[in-house]
Amino acid sequence: MNVSKTFENLTPSYLFAEVAARVAAYKAQHSESKVISLGIGDVTLPLIPPVVEALKSAAEEMGTREGFRGYGPEQGYSFLRGAVANYYAGKGVSLKEEEIFISDGAKSDLGNLLDIFPRGITALIPDPVYPAYVDANIMSGNKLAYAKALPENGFLPMPDAAVKADVIYICSPNNPTGAAYDMRGLKAWVDYALNTGALIVYDAAYERFISDKTLPTTIFSVPDAKYCAVEVCSLSKMAGFTGLRCGWTVVPEQLQSGVVNAAWLRRQCVKFNGVPYIVQRAAQAVFTPEGLLAADKNLAYYKENACIIANALKEKGVRYFGGENSPYIWMECGMPSWEYFDKLLNTAQVVGTPGAGFGAGGEGFFRLTAFNSRENTLEAAERIKKM
Ligand code: MLT
Repeated sequence: MNVSKTFENLTPSYLFAEVAARVAAYKAQHSESKVISLGIGDVTLPLIPPVVEALKSAAEEMGTREGFRGYGPEQGYSFLRGAVANYYAGKGVSLKEEEIFISDGAKSDLGNLLDIFPRGITALIPDPVYPAYVDANIMSGNKLAYAKALPENGFLPMPDAAVKADVIYICSPNNPTGAAYDMRGLKAWVDYALNTGALIVYDAAYERFISDKTLPTTIFSVPDAKYCAVEVCSLSKMAGFTGLRCGWTVVPEQLQSGVVNAAWLRRQCVKFNGVPYIVQRAAQAVFTPEGLLAADKNLAYYKENACIIANALKEKGVRYFGGENSPYIWMECGMPSWEYFDKLLNTAQVVGTPGAGFGAGGEGFFRLTAFNSRENTLEAAERIKKM
């Protein structure tokens, strides 16, 4: 049996796997050097106390006859769906529990959603952007159209009436550029989707990093977005769940009068057995007042790291974007980005992510993340300054 031909259209390896392989090769040859990673956006601070307590108590509960749980609902326990609904209520968005599907993180659902649509559709994807959108669509045999994110449009492409697409991916705040849409920008996309019948897949994984209170943190802040959008979100960056794995996807009932919601429920029931009970209890703890306070304290720490990196670049006179509403700094690197990757690794032993890995439009740019420890971030900033 042959592997699907569509896999032949993928780049030889997934961006972050390629970065990891190159770093491993460098380390194997330079075992004495301390390599600092500002590469993949993986958190480094430990889990917040309310999460740890919830994990412990759920584990204890599972160790009793009365508290033991086997298979849970594929779409998530009501206690967590309710907590997520309440979180949205705080943003002025009313959701039913049935519209919220608990997931093992944003990446899975961003690709899995394609299961419920025909093969060969056209996906409109910003360039540059998180590479999983492109790869998932290529695997599904879909056609790709790109919305160019450039310095000239603030890395926030607007809809072009001449471009026809079935699915539109929007990531705001954006990975990798850190740019975030305002209400006007999001409304333009919602209007475009409503006019063309396209579905928006809105990736809100970095919404909690938004500092500018005038910016929307969910696409459902735009009236009528429930008629054309699903929203995918995650606790990975918001509360350090990259290792625990938990997120959610909102599939509004208004989408094709419930047909999309029903199809997604069916897909999840067939292909997913839900997130572990103890992880869902941990996620629930994030949405308590203490949980959000503690999680936000960690985000403030990462944002301070972003300032440190930004200041180092400012000092060097390097043009950069992002870092204010996002954990990513998107810098101009003045050379092909993989070349800069090698240069940074070889001369400063600092790892970043080449812009070209996020799409052709990312060439000439380089992404640095704010997720390392304060100590390592300071050291990396010093090394960059000395370069
Ligand atoms: C990134 O570095 O872009 C992300 O952290 C990777 C991911 O979320 O899968």
